[in-house]
Amino acid sequence: MSLLLLAPDRDMSSWVQAIEGADPNIDVEVWPNVNDKKQVQFAVCWNQPDNILDKFPNLKAVSSLGAGADHLLSDGSLNNGVPICRIICPSLVRQMQDYVLQAVLNIQRNTLSYFRQKQEGLWAPHPNRIAKEIPIGILGLGKLGKPVAAFLADLDYTVLGWARTPKKIEGVDAYSGKEEIKSMLENTRILVCLLPLTDETSGILDLSLFRELDRPAWLINIARGEHLVEEDLIYALDKGWLNGAWLDVFTEEPLPGKHPFWNRKNIMITPHVCSLTPPDEAAKQVVENYKRAVSGMELLNQVDRKKGY
Ligand code: NDP
Ligand code: OXD
Repeated sequence: MSLLLLAPDRDMSSWVQAIEGADPNIDVEVWPNVNDKKQVQFAVCWNQPDNILDKFPNLKAVSSLGAGADHLLSDGSLNNGVPICRIICPSLVRQMQDYVLQAVLNIQRNTLSYFRQKQEGLWAPHPNRIAKEIPIGILGLGKLGKPVAAFLADLDYTVLGWARTPKKIEGVDAYSGKEEIKSMLENTRILVCLLPLTDETSGILDLSLFRELDRPAWLINIARGEHLVEEDLIYALDKGWLNGAWLDVFTEEPLPGKHPFWNRKNIMITPHVCSLTPPDEAAKQVVENYKRAVSGMELLNQVDRKKGY
């Protein structure tokens, strides 16, 4: 019986150490070094190769190596009956809050402009805005979006949020469903995307959405690259509907060297580092889910296949 770490582009040694530290009785294997595929009962996956999961006939469950599970939900080689779970832990949430706050502060205090001005030797002050004057709209109020919204509200920002179902979060003006998104967008100056990638949300960050925002607005996309229609972002920037974008995720990762985003002055790019799953903190959860899977119990942070997240 083994637990497989299936993340070809990652060095998994710290994960092996953390899982063995959490329970030395578990046989941990790292793909592609698998002794016997029939022995694999649980796989922790990130960027797994195509057509691989059906090679493990006794898989009881799979886990994402992170919070997003879209790479598992869309994997046609994973049998529909195999439950999927994901990892949510406090420092993942904290990193997300920190990332959004640094992006918001940099937007609020014109950091990108001052960087450029320094290179040009240009002394040109821009107006300062205080937190309350900057309405931040958050798409997605789930495990990450909700604490991000609450954190910003605590810091005195004007916070709006949108989810599929109604929410009550102190200090947050919450909207839900397709019929209410417009009301949130027209009062938003910084839009943060924290939606899961599903059929309904794919391509949601498009021209028709940018058009609704209070102008000029900024976009922070830290969910998935496929939420954004990339050419629409360029168009909205050129039109002046958007002032800039802070992006951590892209349709193609790594972002190709020739991609137009690299040369746009108000697009900040980070290489999918917004929230990195810490092996030491996550190992306990992986071990717990491995044991639950093997004994046929419900998993922690199990993904709802019907909802698609
Ligand atoms: P959750 O599944 O916990 O929450 C999803 C939220 O989106 C819920 O509030 C849900 O509404 C809402 N939602 C889903 N579909 C719709 C819809 N059609 N219309 C309106 N609202 C909708 O997600 P997480 O908070 O865990 O993750 C958010 C995103 O962050 C994911 O895309 C994930 O992949 C990404 N991520 C990115 C990282 C990075 O480093 N860049 C790190 C970790 C995660 P409801 O509550 O009503 O169900
Ligand atoms: C995640 C991510 O889903 O890092 O955890 O994108």
